[in-house]
Formats: sequence, structure tokens, C-alpha cells
Amino acid sequence: MQVAYITQTGEPNVIQIGEQPSPEPSATQVLIKVHAVAVNPIDTYIRSGAVALPIEFPYTIGCDLAGVVEKCGANVKRFEPGDRVWGSNQGLFGRKGSFSQFAAVDEDWLYPIPEKQSFDEAAAAALVGITAHLGLFLHANLKPGEVVFINGGTGGVGSAVVQLAKAKGAKVIATVGSAEKKKICEDWGADCVLDYRSPSLDDDIKSFADANGGLNIWWETQREPTFDRTVSLLAKRGRMVLMAGRTARPEFPVGPFYVKDLKLCGFAMFNATPDEQRACANDLNELANQGKWTLPIGATFPLTHAAEAHRLQEENTLNKAGTLQGKIVLHPW
Ligand SMILES: NC(=O)c1ccc[n+]([C@@H]2O[C@H](COP(=O)([O-])OP(=O)(O)OC[C@H]3O[C@@H](n4cnc5c(N)ncnc54)[C@H](OP(=O)(O)O)[C@@H]3O)[C@@H](O)[C@H]2O)c1
Repeated sequence: MQVAYITQTGEPNVIQIGEQPSPEPSATQVLIKVHAVAVNPIDTYIRSGAVALPIEFPYTIGCDLAGVVEKCGANVKRFEPGDRVWGSNQGLFGRKGSFSQFAAVDEDWLYPIPEKQSFDEAAAAALVGITAHLGLFLHANLKPGEVVFINGGTGGVGSAVVQLAKAKGAKVIATVGSAEKKKICEDWGADCVLDYRSPSLDDDIKSFADANGGLNIWWETQREPTFDRTVSLLAKRGRMVLMAGRTARPEFPVGPFYVKDLKLCGFAMFNATPDEQRACANDLNELANQGKWTLPIGATFPLTHAAEAHRLQEENTLNKAGTLQGKIVLHPW
């Protein structure tokens, strides 16, 4: 089978495409014919070596996948051959990555694809969907009617947070970098969409939030959090979600933070247990069936163009090029 893998960390051109034997599923694994995989920033950090996870070479890249069950190990209980499945969390903690024509994945990390969802949509929504769900509900305890600000409302994670917060009955303020992206956010029901370059941004956040009972959650997708701004804009008992910026060491306004009873919720999705992630996946599937959950796809490539796909992701997440409007999906067949 064809596989995208690396034998050393470095620039995107360290990604090689080659033939490897198809895997045999263990007793708890499912063998999947992979129809679509998606790129996430973490894939590029692992490939470049920026995040030094313990990996063994040759290392198959990629976390997300969607496909059809070919074969089940003897102890697999949730799936049978022919089922359409999606999953994330591969390529981490000794698990093999997803960028290959077949993948053997433990059934703990797999979920059924809802009837209305395509393989591309299921792969695109995988890691970012679980991330948004964990952050909003497990960590920040979002309640209906609360006001949520999302900095970067049409990025991979931002798109997911906007849609999930709306589905839960929140009022949503989001920032974007273009008029087209503003329209996308509004179509998802965002109540107030602002240009992140606007000189009146903070005043506009404050006036919308004040008119709706105060800002309850600030979801930061950027790697350089601005604590002074966030702490001054959050209402009492507000929560700030932090999930990016490993090397950031910003100043922190301790006094203003604690006198408002604020909370900081930092998390990494891959720390969540299989049961926690499955609870998120079940909810996301339910929303997909109701037509309330879909991640835009900004670019598609064959698997052989994995290096190009990584370049495009980096250009946007690291260099903020603004040239991507949705997730990057690759096809192994
Ligand atoms: N902790 C976790 O579990 C976890 C999980 C997933 C991702 N992450 C991390 O979260 C970060 C975001 O991931 P992603 O997949 O959403 O990345 P992404 O798809 O590249 O999204 C980046 C977002 O940043 C926005 N942006 C660019 N410049 C901005 C500015 N000056 N102010 C506000 N927004 C700006 C972009 O908006 P425009 O496109 O409109 O310019 C876009 O919405 C990455 O660092 C990733 O590693 C962490």
C-alpha cells in the first residue's frame, strides 16, 4: 500500500511517498480502507520537529482519517466490515499515523460516519471537532445563552467552535480576516463577526458582550495570547480557553484576573481518554445528522502531494497567509 512517511524531521520535503505492506489488525483493531485524511497543524509540528514527540522512524504522518472497515480483529465489538468510520488521534503515543491507503486502528479511536456525511467531511471535522467539543464543554463548561468570543472564527478549530457554540445556544462573537470569511461565520449563525484588524475591535466586542449580559468565554486560537485584553474584556466568572502557543511566555495581569473570579482552561485534545473523545464524537455525529455540523474544505490533494499540503497548512497557521478557507483533505486512492 502507499504511505506518506518521514525518516527524519525537517521541512515538508522530508515527507516521502512509498510502498509498505498493508497492516494486519490486532485483536482490538479494525483494518480500514482509507478514503480521506485531513491535515492539522500538529502534523506539521511533528514533521518539522518543533514538537518533539517520541516517534520511531519510518514514521507515518497524520492524525485524522475516514474510510470503510475491511476487517475486524477477534475482540472488536463496535464495528463490522463495510461500516463507514472516522477517527483522530493516530500518529501519537506509538500509534501509527493515518496517511496511508490502509490503516489498522484500535476500535477505541473510531466512530461511525453519519449517513449524511461524506468521507471528506468526516476526515475534515475529526481532530478539530473533538478539540472544540472538549474545550467548550469538558473544560470551559459552556451553558446555553452565554456569550463566547472566538479569535479566528473560520480556522480549523475556530470553525468547529463557532458551530458547536451556536448549536448549544450560545451567542457568538468571532473574528475573521476577510469579507468572505465573515459571510461564512454569519451563515453558521455567528451573532457578531468582526475583522481582527479593525481598530475598534475591542470596543465592538465589549459593546456586543455588554448588550448580551457580558463575555463569558474567550477562545484563543492564536499562539500569542493577549492576557491584558482578555482579562479586561471577560465578565466575572469568565473562562479563557488556551490551546496553542507552546513557546509563548506573555505577561499576565494577576490582580485583574483573580478579582474577577476568572479561570484559565488549557488543554491538549490528545490527553482526553477514548471514552471522553467518544462522547464528543457521538454529539458531533448527532449534530451532523441534524445538518448543524460541517467543516468547510479549503483544498484537496492526492496523498502523493502530502508535502504540498503541509506547506499550505504551515503558510496559513504559522505565517498567517490567509490563503486557506477550510480544512485540507487528501485522498490515498
Ligand atoms: N490544544 C489542542 O488540542 C489543539 C487542537 C487543535 C489545534 N491546536 C492548535 O490551535 C491552533 C489553531 O489551529 P487551527 O487548525 O485552527 O489553525 P488554522 O486553521 O490555521 O487557523 C488559524 C486561524 O487564525 C486566524 N488568524 C490569523 N491571523 C489572526 C489574527 N491576527 N488575529 C486573529 N485570528 C487570526 C485565521 O483567520 P483568517 O483565515 O481569517 O486569516 C484562522 O482562523 C494551532 O496552533 C494548533 O496547533 C491545538
